[in-house]
Amino acid sequence: MRPMSLFITFEGPEGSGKSTQARMLVEWLESLGYDVVATREPGGTRIGEAVRRIILSVEHSEMNPRTEALLFSAARAQLVFQVIKPALEEGKIVVSDRYADSTMAYQGYGHQLEIEDLKAITRFATGGLVPDITFYLDLPVEEGLARKARDSVNGGEKLNRLDLAAVEYHKKVRNGYLKLVEENGRWHVLDARKPPHTIQEEIRKVVRKSLEGRPGPEVKR
Ligand code: TYD
Repeated sequence: MRPMSLFITFEGPEGSGKSTQARMLVEWLESLGYDVVATREPGGTRIGEAVRRIILSVEHSEMNPRTEALLFSAARAQLVFQVIKPALEEGKIVVSDRYADSTMAYQGYGHQLEIEDLKAITRFATGGLVPDITFYLDLPVEEGLARKARDSVNGGEKLNRLDLAAVEYHKKVRNGYLKLVEENGRWHVLDARKPPHTIQEEIRKVVRKSLEGRPGPEVKR
């Protein structure tokens, strides 16, 4: 990788606002003159978007968590080798809305698949490419679901049986993220309940610090 390249990922539950934060970061970096590639998972390539449709289709309710893990990883392999690695090799900044940590959190901690197996699959799929910075937007599960409910037609209704099963699952996912965050220093935890512009300021502070001393456009303040 060229010294000025930077690989930034966003993680967090649905309703945490991570896609908005990723987009705001990309706009800011571009306004500073950086060459930025924005992508998302699952998807980000023609093949990846096709795999995304298979994974997320409501018609595939029988999908086994192992199948799910392999499909997410297959889409990721395509994204890494077609988009992310080439961009980093050209010295660009890559910002991805989700990456391999989602597999650890959702399939590993959420569906209780073997973390060591998932790490091996991920290493194979990504060629060992790990982000430089990962932002985790943390939100209590009930609040995330309430945000979702507010957006839906039945906003404010009591959670039904399936929602309650989802609560348990999402709690495992969140606890998984909180364990992953402990593992190394690339993680930055953000409180997703704060106002969006406050969160963005915190994100920019971390990125600005990481860009200091690197070749590239002067970082304006
Ligand atoms: P998406 O509509 O992109 O949601 P979000 O805005 O939350 O990113 O759907 C992606 C879903 O797939 C989301 O529920 C998280 C899940 N997911 C996994 O379970 N494992 C993975 O490896 C990835 C990348 C996503």
